[in-house]
Amino acid sequence: MDGNGRWAEQRGCERVDGHAAGEDAFVESVRAAVDGGVTWLTSFAFSTENWRRPRSEVDFLMRLNRRVLRDNVHDWNEMGVRVRYLGVADARIPEDVREEIAAAEELTRDNGTLTLTVALDHGGRRDLARAARSIVAHGVPADQVTEETLAGHMQFPDMPDIDLLVRTSAEHRLSNFMLWQAAYAELVFLDVLWPDFRAEHFSQAVELYHRRRRRFGDVPRPAEPAAAVSAGA
Ligand code: FPP
Repeated sequence: MDGNGRWAEQRGCERVDGHAAGEDAFVESVRAAVDGGVTWLTSFAFSTENWRRPRSEVDFLMRLNRRVLRDNVHDWNEMGVRVRYLGVADARIPEDVREEIAAAEELTRDNGTLTLTVALDHGGRRDLARAARSIVAHGVPADQVTEETLAGHMQFPDMPDIDLLVRTSAEHRLSNFMLWQAAYAELVFLDVLWPDFRAEHFSQAVELYHRRRRRFGDVPRPAEPAAAVSAGA
C-alpha cells in the first residue's frame, strides 16, 4: 500500500493525511477481494523498517491501524472474513493495538470466505530468521531440514504461496515483503498512489495476472485432459 506520502504532498497536506486517506482504499480492496472470490489477501501496513520514520508518523500509523480494525471488524465478520496479523513482534507496538488485534482474530477465527492478513511490523527476513530459530528450538536435526520444514515453521504455516503481488505508486521493489511466500509470485506494479486505489485497480491487477503464463521453471505443455481438470475441481 505505497504512495500515501506522495499523495499527501501533491495536495499540500501532511504525510499522515495520506495514510488516513489510504483507509478507504484498504476497505475497498477487502470488499473487492470478497466480491471477486479471492480467498487470501495480505496487505502490507507497516514494515520492520518503518520504525525508522519520525515518531509522530509511527504513532499515527499505530493509532490508524487500531481504529481501522475497530471500525471495520464487524462488517468483515459478517462478510465471512478471517482477520490475522503477521509480524506484531516489536515491543513498541502499543498494548491497545495488540488488544484490538487479539479481539479481532478471536471474533473472526472461524470465518472461511477470505483470510485477510495484515502485515504489521512485518519483515520477510525476520520471518525467515524466526522460522530458523523455531526449527532449532524444536531440535530438528540439520540434515532433516527441508523446504517443507521451513514452511511449517513460518508464523502461519497454512498460508499459501503468493500468486499475485501488487505494489502501487510506481515503485518496483519487494521491500522485504514475504520473501518466502513470494518466491513465484506474479508481480504487478501499478502507477496509482495507494489512496486512489479502487476496485477497478484490483480488477486490473487480477486481469493482468490471468494473462501471465506461469511455468514454475517447467516448459509450456499441452493442456491437461478435461477429465483431470474437472476431477480436481
Ligand atoms: C507506505 O506509503 C504506506 C504505509 C507505510 C502505511 C500504509 C497504511 C495505510 C494505507 C493505512 C490503512 C490501512 C491499514 C491496514 C490501517 P509511504 O508513506 O511510504 O508513501 P510514499 O512512498 O509516497 O512516501
